[in-house]
Amino acid sequence: MSKLRVAVIGTGFWGKNHARIYKELENTELVAICDVNPECSRAIAEQYGAKAYTDSSIMLKNPEIQAVSVCTWSIKLAEETLKCLHAGKHVLVEKPMATDTKQAQILLDTAEANGLHLTVGFLMRFIPGLQQIKQSVETAKIGEMVSATAKRVTQWPERIGDVGIVKDTAIHDIDVMRFISGEEPVSVYAKMGSMRHRQFEDYAQIMLTYESGKTAFIESNWLTPYKIRSLNVTGSEAIMRLDYNSQELWIENAVETVQPRNSFKEPLKAELEHFVECIIEKKTPMITGDDGYKALEIAVAAMESSTKNTVVKIK
Ligand SMILES: NC(=O)c1ccc[n+]([C@@H]2O[C@H](COP(=O)([O-])OP(=O)(O)OC[C@H]3O[C@@H](n4cnc5c(N)ncnc54)[C@H](O)[C@@H]3O)[C@@H](O)[C@H]2O)c1
Repeated sequence: MSKLRVAVIGTGFWGKNHARIYKELENTELVAICDVNPECSRAIAEQYGAKAYTDSSIMLKNPEIQAVSVCTWSIKLAEETLKCLHAGKHVLVEKPMATDTKQAQILLDTAEANGLHLTVGFLMRFIPGLQQIKQSVETAKIGEMVSATAKRVTQWPERIGDVGIVKDTAIHDIDVMRFISGEEPVSVYAKMGSMRHRQFEDYAQIMLTYESGKTAFIESNWLTPYKIRSLNVTGSEAIMRLDYNSQELWIENAVETVQPRNSFKEPLKAELEHFVECIIEKKTPMITGDDGYKALEIAVAAMESSTKNTVVKIK
């Protein structure tokens, strides 16, 4: 079996994991690593037997590279992704994909014009419990979905200094809400602010409303001294609760609580396996560039809502 030849751009806290997994997968060959920090690129390249670069424009000239994970600082994701697409490489770009929807649209158009895969790192979708929630909503196993509440709180990871909590963190839950509801929100109302972060918001409460009457509530902050990442979905017949940290899922109705035992799989591994499989088998990925665009559009609308202290309609 011929292997897909891949590279990673940005090998800090998160990109390192992409590199490790590409080395572990049987159908990928990790060819190159690029990080503007030479120590960083050299260390990871040496560890995994790949070639080290500090300039992606040089790395991308290598015709061997077929696909790239872009894991740079959030403000550099769009620029690096665009370079990859212009060089004819398939891309998995980390969230938030871009910092504004204009940049995101350029990425979508470029990928489409060049017939390339463009997918976004919305990792939560690869957690079996979340897939089960989506299925239960779709098949009305919990009756009609009424509302969903997501909570993603922790201490401020100080390495994140280029975007605030909405584009960094809440965007995961914005995507989750789109994923499980199967419907686009029609409006957003949000309140956010900054307590410790000097430049960007570090807490946000976001409420999404849907044409069907559903609502979704997202709470994110970098102010809580421990990590909680959870999702509660209320249906007309039952509720579902997911703890993202332990991946435990509970389904409760008036008479019983059921806790399905899903086997644990590293979500990033499942995500990268899927990315590679979609390229090799020419399949549309579960998460498209359009999903990235739409989540970003909602995040931007939430920020506007908070600034203007009003409900913002989503196009
Ligand atoms: N999907 C997820 O669950 C998840 C989790 C963590 C981080 N992320 C995303 O991954 C990205 C990286 O986050 P992190 O925590 O690893 O940050 P980080 O600061 O630890 O690492 C970023 C790395 O990118 C390098 N870099 C920056 N610009 C570059 C460029 N133009 N070319 C090459 N290298 C460049 C930096 O030198 C650094 O080593 C962010 O966009 C973040 O939102 C996603």
